[in-house]
Amino acid sequence: MKTRIVGIMGAMPEEIEGVVSLITNCKVLTAGMRTYYSGRINETEVVVVFSRWGKVAAATTVSTLIHEFHITELIFTGVAGAIASKLKIGDVVIGDQLIQHDMDAQPLMERFEIPLLNKTYFEGNQSLSDLASKAIHQIFDSKQLHTIIGNEELSSFGITHPQLYFGEIASGDQFFSGSEQKTNLTNALPDVLCVEMEGAAVAQVCYEHEIPFVIIRTISDAADEQSHIDFPAFIRKISSKYSVAIIKNMLA
Ligand code: ADE
Repeated sequence: MKTRIVGIMGAMPEEIEGVVSLITNCKVLTAGMRTYYSGRINETEVVVVFSRWGKVAAATTVSTLIHEFHITELIFTGVAGAIASKLKIGDVVIGDQLIQHDMDAQPLMERFEIPLLNKTYFEGNQSLSDLASKAIHQIFDSKQLHTIIGNEELSSFGITHPQLYFGEIASGDQFFSGSEQKTNLTNALPDVLCVEMEGAAVAQVCYEHEIPFVIIRTISDAADEQSHIDFPAFIRKISSKYSVAIIKNMLA
């Protein structure tokens, strides 16, 4: 049987720093403007890396994890802008369907279809999603949330009872910062819960190499005119702490 090696990618350096601090006997390798940290978290072999931003950056990073580090599964954590109105800042979405919202090879094929794969959506792996769901419920349904993030920080973002959702995540090389962008997206893809810039690219590479994956996104902003203002403080105070706790619980 192949040794289990879990690739862990994060879209923010702050999130990765916390996860790296969980690694024992950490080895560091720098290549192609990425730093790969490998070792163990508890009993599990891991390789942790900051993906950088956007679809190309994320796709090349996961390719390296697959070809150079021989990962057998992939966990991606990061933030996303809310599209569905039910989502609040601090909620978490696990992607059961990933779509590239800026893929458009019409009239050669349907809008959003990935060329040569005869596919529009990539599905997150069920058992990794179950594991992530358990890890997140462990944080939300107990006092764990308040031990990892102070009340003052939670209330500064209006986070009271964060919820976990499963659903469609749309990825593309665009930061959403206005209602027109949101309307255009929901007109074409009414079921999208949130938007980000890497997940569906990582999903495509994993699909092509038969690597099970899960994409986990914390809602950092409402993808509206305020999104860039909320963003850096949220990463520092909230989502970086979520990521560490999620990974810790998933690999306990
Ligand atoms: N990641 C976090 N917020 C985002 C937004 N508003 N647009 C795209 N990616 C994001």
